[in-house]
Amino acid sequence: MSTPSTKTIRVGIICGSQRKPRCGDQVSNFVLETVQIHSKPTNTDVQNISFHFDFIDINDLNLPFYDEPGIPSKITPPEGYTHEHTRKWSQRISPLDAFIFVTPQYNWGYPAGLKNAIDYLFHEWKGKPAVIVSYGGHGGDKAAAALRVCLAGGLDMQVGDRMVVNLSFPNRDALYAAAQGKDLGLDAGKEGGVWSEERKCITGAWDQMVAMLV
Ligand SMILES: Cc1cc2nc3c(=O)[nH]c(=O)nc-3n(C[C@H](O)[C@H](O)[C@H](O)COP(=O)(O)O)c2cc1C
Repeated sequence: MSTPSTKTIRVGIICGSQRKPRCGDQVSNFVLETVQIHSKPTNTDVQNISFHFDFIDINDLNLPFYDEPGIPSKITPPEGYTHEHTRKWSQRISPLDAFIFVTPQYNWGYPAGLKNAIDYLFHEWKGKPAVIVSYGGHGGDKAAAALRVCLAGGLDMQVGDRMVVNLSFPNRDALYAAAQGKDLGLDAGKEGGVWSEERKCITGAWDQMVAMLV
């Protein structure tokens, strides 16, 4: 009897915050570690699947404000882009099967840099599943809703009902600490810590995303 081959699902986890200082890197790592722990072979019901993660920090991309002369939906191969930075960005996103967008809420929206990076591409995102994790004083639900409209409406991505998670800072002190980039003590492997209860919302969103890919 032949052994079934292992399918690899490639997931991009996108840190949408670029401020200095910021807490977005901590939050994104917490989300990544939460799904990594959850998707270990012993913890998953889905056998013969492995996951490859690409941690994408919008800040590292150094993308200028959108400067392609064309409309991304009309450009299919990366060679169709005018600029090298767009070709590189396209080649990074194209091979990925699914995404987790981690976004702060800025004035009820999501950051301009994240929108800019999304807008550069079209076919590279189109139709793929995406989880949205927002954070803010009240969970950043307005940012998540706006991002969902962009992804599901504009780019035809699959963002199911349980694939949006809003993480609220536990108190005002935490909000101010986050704004200053101080250590929030996030630990994906610890019970009773900040957002330890919310991990099941993240893993629930993840499970729904994985179900779309198998
Ligand atoms: C420009 C700006 C606007 C903000 N607007 C909101 C907001 O609308 N709602 C909210 O809950 N927090 C808001 N905050 C507070 C952020 O939740 C907090 O600063 C958080 O640390 C931002 O994430 P970051 O550190 O990854 O950039 C805002 C922060 C900034 C810098």
